[in-house]
Amino acid sequence: MARTVKVAVTGAAGQIGYALLPRIASGAVFGPDVRVSLHLLEITPALKALEGVVMELDDCAFPLLDEIVTTDDADRAFEGVNWALLVGSKPRGKGMERGDLIRENGPIFVGQGKALTRGASDLRTLVVGNPANTNCLIAMHNAVGGGIPKERFHAMTRLDQNRAEAQLAQKAGVKVAEVTNMAIWGNHSATQYPDAENARIGGRPVTDVIGHVSWLQEDFIQIVQQRGAAVIEARGLSSAASAANAALDHVMSMEQATPDGQFFSAAVPSDGSYGVEEGLIFSFPVRSDGQGNWSIVQGLELSSFAREKIAATEAELKEERAVIADLLS
Ligand code: NAD
Ligand code: LMR
Repeated sequence: MARTVKVAVTGAAGQIGYALLPRIASGAVFGPDVRVSLHLLEITPALKALEGVVMELDDCAFPLLDEIVTTDDADRAFEGVNWALLVGSKPRGKGMERGDLIRENGPIFVGQGKALTRGASDLRTLVVGNPANTNCLIAMHNAVGGGIPKERFHAMTRLDQNRAEAQLAQKAGVKVAEVTNMAIWGNHSATQYPDAENARIGGRPVTDVIGHVSWLQEDFIQIVQQRGAAVIEARGLSSAASAANAALDHVMSMEQATPDGQFFSAAVPSDGSYGVEEGLIFSFPVRSDGQGNWSIVQGLELSSFAREKIAATEAELKEERAVIADLLS
């Protein structure tokens, strides 16, 4: 047992936390040779519920689980952590857009961004709480002064990638594993652009396998953009099992070297690639070197249709940024 990885999860007593924690503690994410320490942050009124979650984790008797810290103090939660999964925040209800949460949830990421710089150095942060891209922007701005490189801040669009892969596989009548290179561009919102033009099914362009161009340009995009709302409509609650699964897929993709010729989707600080304004937290096709570094895949072809969609989602992110400009220090 060479290594212990410390993982902070905020909102740990919530729905996503409940689906996330057993999988991290079981070793399914970091592997069978890595011990795990969980640092669980909640607001004070939820600490009692969190106690119940800890009781259940104890009752799983996970051999790799070294330690569980529970706290309502962000400084304590982020002390020495390697990954911070920032989930804790309010979910939207029926009829809302994720961006409607911005003034309520945004301030959470000011305090947590600052606490991250006080507590952690070898850190990667994944923001799940909505609106995820802009909350991540807030956390990053409030943390970078403390020396954490901005590249360590990511927001989650992996759930959108997974949803898009599932839709393409169902339409093509193939196994989901045959779908690769599913780029999600932009915001985790109803303006995101799931890019079928650069995706592959069994190594072939999706457009060759699914000849139904109007389905790819209309229905497919809309299904993926609206999938979160559809889950809320059906379940009465926002996605949790699939969200937790996607968060862990994100962590694993960042921890492992991406296979040659492939990429995954993550919202990361734009470096100006594809003309997207530098500094926005924007979902791109990304590769990891498995040593803690990622890069945006360059040179993908974008049709005028794609460029229009990407411009629309970039415009929305700039609007969200304007709404919380006072929270960016
Ligand atoms: P939930 O209401 O079940 O749980 C949220 C938890 O966060 C609660 O236990 C609450 O007490 C806690 N919390 C609130 N403020 C906090 C703070 N300041 N510090 C620490 N904890 C705090 O919600 P959920 O279903 O787990 O969803 C959490 C967030 O994730 C929501 O914003 C939701 O919209 C978002 N989400 C994002 C994606 C994505 O793909 N990016 C997917 C699903 C859900
Ligand atoms: C999702 O995509 O399922 C989450 O962002 C929750 C939501 O509000 O849609």
